[in-house]
Amino acid sequence: MKVMVVGGGGREHAIVKKIKENSAVTEIYALPGNGGIAQDAVCVDIAAKDLDGIAVFAKEKQIDFAVVAPDDPLVLGAVDVLEALGIPCFGPNKKAAILEGSKVFSKDLMKKYNIPTAQYAVFDDPQKAMEYLKTAPLPTVIKADGLALGKGVIIAESREEALNAVHTIMEDKVFGASGDHIVVEEFLTGPEVSVLAFTDGKTMIPMVSSMDHKRALDGDKGLNTGGMGTIAPNPYYTEALAEECMKTIFLPTMEAMNQEGRTFKGCLYFGLMLTSDGPKVIEYNCRFGDPETQVVLPLLESDLLSIMQHIAHGTLADAEVKFSKKSACCVIMASEGYPGKYESGYEITLPQHCDRIFVAGAKIKDGKLVTGGGRVLGVTEIADTLQEAIDQAYVSVQNVHFANAYYRKDIGQKALAAEV
Ligand code: AMP
Ligand code: GLY
Repeated sequence: MKVMVVGGGGREHAIVKKIKENSAVTEIYALPGNGGIAQDAVCVDIAAKDLDGIAVFAKEKQIDFAVVAPDDPLVLGAVDVLEALGIPCFGPNKKAAILEGSKVFSKDLMKKYNIPTAQYAVFDDPQKAMEYLKTAPLPTVIKADGLALGKGVIIAESREEALNAVHTIMEDKVFGASGDHIVVEEFLTGPEVSVLAFTDGKTMIPMVSSMDHKRALDGDKGLNTGGMGTIAPNPYYTEALAEECMKTIFLPTMEAMNQEGRTFKGCLYFGLMLTSDGPKVIEYNCRFGDPETQVVLPLLESDLLSIMQHIAHGTLADAEVKFSKKSACCVIMASEGYPGKYESGYEITLPQHCDRIFVAGAKIKDGKLVTGGGRVLGVTEIADTLQEAIDQAYVSVQNVHFANAYYRKDIGQKALAAEV
């Protein structure tokens, strides 16, 4: 069977490795993949957003199954293009991917269907937004409507910051058309939990919960990043909370999308905050989260490709989806300076056994693997307890070498605090 995975980060590396466990897979391609993924798949130099290129390649190679992993191609409609060619796909179509593609859409959906989330107001006129922000309670949260490389959320502590945020997003258009509309949101507090769920629009099967560490520096300080590490399961997310979220958030979201004629098939990501008022949705993503995937998929004991095929065929209820009871920890090793300026091109040496090293930003240069991105790779370990998984991940980090390597030293510490 020929499988194609669209994307080229740590998430895609974790997906590729898991899909390869299925013995029916004879060929696996990554578009564009990266220097590390090249160990596990044939990387093809076609950008994830190049829908025409992807379609031509898929047809030429007679791909049997496609996985579209990143947000951009999903929101642009890559699944629609591939399905029109008769290629079964894992991932939501364009109509459903709007759940991540437009924050205004997702907030309005939650309001209409009574799904718990922060109070909000939507603006398309910067003057009106600024007027509103003169009296809104602080801190306040300002979000660009569209995709913004995970940088479109500003938490303003002062009026000045809030007004600046409106100016940068709506007038300077730092995120382009994504900033034509903004959402101004109530600031919520509480532990954050990521829950990825498999769904075919009829059945919803949440995966093991996880916790991301978004800030660059220890103690959750510094700038927001794409994620500096993850642990799973998330100890804040008790069984009682899981049941409550299923009833008040997960199933209602699936039903709401069906009602709107936007049936969601694929991996639906719920970014939740456990507030004193109960769990609330901070954000939806229309795909596997990264680096959440780097702890969640290693804990999946069932066959990923079969689950994905069941979802594509609308038979998820018949799939076996089983997770290990163990814990996992992933430490992201980045280039010093990320998410700001950083240097790359340094040789990476990996240990001989690196089944759970997921490469995000690396290239092959003169036959050697060299750094080629802010987040370079993720090192994941699994153990019986969270403490052991964390300890082992940090031991394994010592076996990976490249110049200017930077990583957080406290991945999982907040989660450990919740366990006692
Ligand atoms: P996002 O890019 O949507 O994941 O948001 C980035 C981060 O901003 C989230 O992980 C939260 O930590 C924070 N955030 C987003 N919305 C809110 C909110 N309404 N209240 C407090 N924090 C928020
Ligand atoms: N880790 C958050 C995301 O994938 O958006």
